[in-house]
Amino acid sequence: MGGRGRPVTSLFGRLADGTEIHSWSLENGGTRMKVLSYGGIVQSLEVPDRHGRYADVSLGFDRIEEYVASSPYFGALIGRYGNRIGNGRFTLDGETYQLSVDDGENSLHGGADGFDRRVWDVEPFTEGSDVGLRLSYTSADGEMGYPGTLEMKVTYTLTERGDWRIDYEATTDRATVVNLTSHVYWNLAGAGSGTIEDHELEIAASRYTPTDPGLIPTGELAEVAGTAFDFRRAKPIGRDLRTGHPDLLAAKGYDHNWVLDKGVTAEPEHVATLRDPASGRTLEIATNEPGLQFYSGNFLDGTLVGPGGHTYRQGDALCLETQHFPDSPNHPSFPSTVLRPGQTYRTTTIHSFNS
Ligand code: BGC
Repeated sequence: MGGRGRPVTSLFGRLADGTEIHSWSLENGGTRMKVLSYGGIVQSLEVPDRHGRYADVSLGFDRIEEYVASSPYFGALIGRYGNRIGNGRFTLDGETYQLSVDDGENSLHGGADGFDRRVWDVEPFTEGSDVGLRLSYTSADGEMGYPGTLEMKVTYTLTERGDWRIDYEATTDRATVVNLTSHVYWNLAGAGSGTIEDHELEIAASRYTPTDPGLIPTGELAEVAGTAFDFRRAKPIGRDLRTGHPDLLAAKGYDHNWVLDKGVTAEPEHVATLRDPASGRTLEIATNEPGLQFYSGNFLDGTLVGPGGHTYRQGDALCLETQHFPDSPNHPSFPSTVLRPGQTYRTTTIHSFNS
């Protein structure tokens, strides 16, 4: 399938202060996506089913106002810290930092104005058989309570075979913590088409991190064997969702970090497969990160309306966020999220589509 060419931009809308937000359209290898300069948001991502019929498989909105007013991080880049930091506080090199608290008493996804709500610089590129966007944003020292000026470069690449690859890079001028991820809400049958409970999911993880009622990891790494959390062999997401496991009750479904068996790796390795048996659309994820947050769209409550007038209800999409573990700065036994001057934070996640 064709359509490869230089990414095309258009005006998507304006923020209240007049700032222009642009939409970038990219296509390669049969995958089409639209990306906003606001939050690096993937506004749509279209892939074909087994008959070649396209659907937008990521939840989004039509208008910038909706992203600003009520988006639960649809398609956004997440930082400085993906998922929660307990009490919005951590201590590094003897100094305690108080972060922006936006989820009960905890800090979620970088605080009240995280990277999902920032305007990124976007530069298009074509390189060999790849097309893509280079997004950059500098987060000021102290932004949302985090130490250090963080210079970030995130590259979205669509490859010749239609893979969407994300390369994250960051440097700092003071010791800090960083955990970047992407918050696409997937529904491989098409955004707004209904529940994802029939999607089959496989996660290459023998353990997960149980949480307290505020969804902060207790520090335990629990075995998935014999529990609803066992996705080592592909199974429908809905199969064990109503089994009454206390961790499922506490989170209203799946909203946990899986401890990937491969651990931190130099190169991206396969960690998960999501498949919609009806359409045949399949998403495979490879990463060098040690964790995967599987969130089954528990807090979608039927009040948000997407393109085409479809409402998004509980379980109408799921997120698979490659990351370091939540609250790592307060758990010395978890893989470290500390970044120091002179070091470069580098992680990669690849999304491969088939049908
Ligand atoms: C978190 C959920 C949260 C959601 C925001 C997910 O990454 O794990 O707890 O509600 O993001 O919509």
